[in-house]
Amino acid sequence: MDHFLYKNGELHAEDVPLREIAASVGTPFYCYSTATLERHFRLFDEALEGTEHLVCYAMKAASNLAILKVLAACGAGMDVVSGGEYARAIAAGVSGDKIVFSGVGKTRDEMRLALTGGIRQFNVESEPEMLRLNEVALELGLKAPITVRVNPDVDAKTHAKIATGKKENKFGIPISRARDVYAMAGKLEGLEVVGIDVHIGSQLTELEPFRQAYEKVKELTLELRADGHTIKRLDLGGGLGIPYTRANDAPPLPTDYGAMVKDVLGDLGCEIEIEPGRLIAGNAGVLVSEVIYVKEGEDRKFLIVDAAMNDLIRPAMYDAHHDIVPLAEPAVATEPDTYDIVGPICESGDTFAKGRELAPMQEGALVAFRSAGAYGAVMSSEYNSRPMIPEVLVQGDQFAVIRARPSLEEMLNRDTIPEWL
Ligand code: LLP
Repeated sequence: MDHFLYKNGELHAEDVPLREIAASVGTPFYCYSTATLERHFRLFDEALEGTEHLVCYAMKAASNLAILKVLAACGAGMDVVSGGEYARAIAAGVSGDKIVFSGVGKTRDEMRLALTGGIRQFNVESEPEMLRLNEVALELGLKAPITVRVNPDVDAKTHAKIATGKKENKFGIPISRARDVYAMAGKLEGLEVVGIDVHIGSQLTELEPFRQAYEKVKELTLELRADGHTIKRLDLGGGLGIPYTRANDAPPLPTDYGAMVKDVLGDLGCEIEIEPGRLIAGNAGVLVSEVIYVKEGEDRKFLIVDAAMNDLIRPAMYDAHHDIVPLAEPAVATEPDTYDIVGPICESGDTFAKGRELAPMQEGALVAFRSAGAYGAVMSSEYNSRPMIPEVLVQGDQFAVIRARPSLEEMLNRDTIPEWL
């Protein structure tokens, strides 16, 4: 459930008509609902009740500081994958002991930043990374808490570009080699083994792949303990999918997921960490855009909107579906029209939807792309010199711009001209 509903014929974010925000900040823009963010965080937190746990929000999904502050206030930890994300977590007021650091390519600088600023654990993904982290920790006279991310070779049954748990993926250490790698970690003075990490992919719509991966993690926990390692935490990654359409085939709920986690891993006495991103932010955000033209093609109508693939790349990159709805609620009896919905960018990949049924649209009409809160704004760019679009946060009947649209001048001023020109 989210808080983007029609009231009095207008799509609202909580108690604010999106049209009012459009009039104030201009289109296109991203808009997030505080109540939805909080609700989704709590769903996970409650799903793991009864087991010691920490929900570490994967901020790669949406990392605006205001969003992070909302979640930090709920008690969220953070999963970060770069020095920049680490700095965001700290700036949002999250303490180091609630930050986990993931990613296959952590640099010395990033390790130093997190070690000196405080870190709950590094999720180490390779032997060379382990050796480097050991070196950096020893240089600083510190011990780096680590888990090893294992690759369980499980099919997550999701889009190939976001599956991470198969042996052909770059992530983690093959689970078959895990005992050797832990043995190596145990001998390194700069490291302290605290647990195991696994993450098999994103937008999973079934529990079974998770279950298979977690069964393997359970077996490994027992083996590693027998080898003399302290395994007190299990980081189970993120990946639970969200409904992108209003259809009935919704993915399992956090409660189902939590019950499965407790069922498989509940008797190990481990603290459970999870790293959801999409489920917390995805349906907590929309992208609002204005129709620039309705263009008649040879055999179709194009709805040309002012948002483009640089603002929301998911359809172009993953063939992702986003529901697109008018801000003005169509009358019940309205016969829909069929459109290809496209942006202004000069490539055909800048297509959001083909043959989409929508109430008849005119120039100037406003539409919302639903489920755009995760992997929307964070993946945007200024391709075609289109300034990054603003982000707005709603709480109840109030809204605030949480990232302003740069002026054209500001955008240009980021370039510098060498003196020889
Ligand atoms: N933990 C790790 C180690 C991850 O790599 C990811 C996502 C997550 C947690 C969070 O997964 P989530 O709960 O959000 O599924 N840009 C793509 C999604 C990329 C996901 C990358 N890793 C998209 O727009 O679909």
